[in-house]
Amino acid sequence: MSLQLTLFTIVFFPVSSLIIAGIAKRLRKSATLSQSQLGRLLNITEETISGNRIIKAFTAQNFVQGRFSKYNDDYRKVSKSMVNRRELAGPLSEFLGVTVIVAVMIFGGRLVLNQQSDLSASEFVTYIILYSQLIAPIKNISTAVTSIQRGLAAGERVLAIIDTPDEVVNQPGAVKLEAFDKKIEFRNLSFAYNTEEVLKDVSFNIPKGKMVAIVGQSGAGKSTLADLLCRFYDPQGGGVFIEGRDIREYTLESLRSQMGIVTQEAILFNDTVLSNIAFGIENVDEAAVIQAAKIANAHEFISQMENGYQTNIGDRGSRLSGGQRQRISIARAVLKNPPILILDEATSSLDTESEKLVQDAIQKLMENRTSLVIAHRLSTIQHADEIIVLQQGSVVERGTHESLFAMKGVYRKLCDMQSVS
Ligand SMILES: Nc1ncnc2c1ncn2[C@@H]1O[C@H](COP(=O)(O)OP(=O)(O)OP(=O)(O)O)[C@@H](O)[C@H]1O
Ligand SMILES: [Mg+2]
Repeated sequence: MSLQLTLFTIVFFPVSSLIIAGIAKRLRKSATLSQSQLGRLLNITEETISGNRIIKAFTAQNFVQGRFSKYNDDYRKVSKSMVNRRELAGPLSEFLGVTVIVAVMIFGGRLVLNQQSDLSASEFVTYIILYSQLIAPIKNISTAVTSIQRGLAAGERVLAIIDTPDEVVNQPGAVKLEAFDKKIEFRNLSFAYNTEEVLKDVSFNIPKGKMVAIVGQSGAGKSTLADLLCRFYDPQGGGVFIEGRDIREYTLESLRSQMGIVTQEAILFNDTVLSNIAFGIENVDEAAVIQAAKIANAHEFISQMENGYQTNIGDRGSRLSGGQRQRISIARAVLKNPPILILDEATSSLDTESEKLVQDAIQKLMENRTSLVIAHRLSTIQHADEIIVLQQGSVVERGTHESLFAMKGVYRKLCDMQSVS
């Protein structure tokens, strides 16, 4: 309708888009910040609720409340500035649109009144009406741009977690570990979580059917050794070999299906006793579960619970005592019936009598089985085929109980402190 007017209005577009883009960019920054503040706030809330016993016991209510208020306040400030920016985008672009129309009216009105162009008055009114229709879509575009920025900020956080590469994966061409027949070999194993070496050049064998015990101070690297056997981490130097092949050459599933593990802290789920013992097994036979519980010396207390095996044990098994939790996790390993057994301090939270009963059960369980046993209480591992003494990640002594005892070294000192003879 009028080239002059159209050129005049087009000049305004880059100006308004620059202003909107500026807002969107700052919005993205504050959205990222607000997301991470919200994450921290949720983290604190979760921690406070699950740790409420410790908070009360240490009368730290005020401290925790203060911490929550501080983070909550930070979150409020950041969110407010983000919402301000978001809500600004719509009205601002509307304002810019109206400004352009006013400018067009002044500029175009002059043209028409001074008859500087061939635009007639009625055409000019039509032009203005048509042009005003553009405001709503332009406003939508600008709110869309700000919404996208907010979404991108949230998406970045979620994708950062989803896209985290799994460090331990099946190698190309990994083979299935069909059966375990000969031996497990730890060969010149070195491992560090970060920079400091936790295991240094550790070598020993566990022949099939034998029991090897690991002893050593807290922090010596015992649990780490068990984690490496399950391949939760890959070592930096040396390796773990089963049947003469590095475990990295086997598929993870076939490797782990050969192993049963009782971890240092019993890990249980908010479910029934039955599902916890039969964890991961479909269509389990209840009789087999009861049998496993009997072996783990857990049947008695389970039958005394309100709904027996169908009793819910609460979050992380919170409705059980420490020793009961441990016996359930032993029953879980018993039911899986694996050829290789890893026991990390499996009987540490039992009283002497239960320990003896569970020890007998484990003893039976370990017959014809290969096991790696970690223990602080030396009385439980005296009959091991070999005892490895770890100190700061290195093997310092190895041998049977009798030979190590006679050696009068580190192991003997540990024995003397626990009055084991
Ligand atoms: N996930 C981890 N990240 C970083 N360092 C870790 C991690 N787990 C353990 N460590 C460190 O590795 C060392 C060995 O830990 P490990 O759990 O193997 O000790 P441990 O011999 O099992 O001790 P304990 O008898 O107390 O269970 C410790 O110094 C510990 O601080
Ligand atoms: Mg440990």
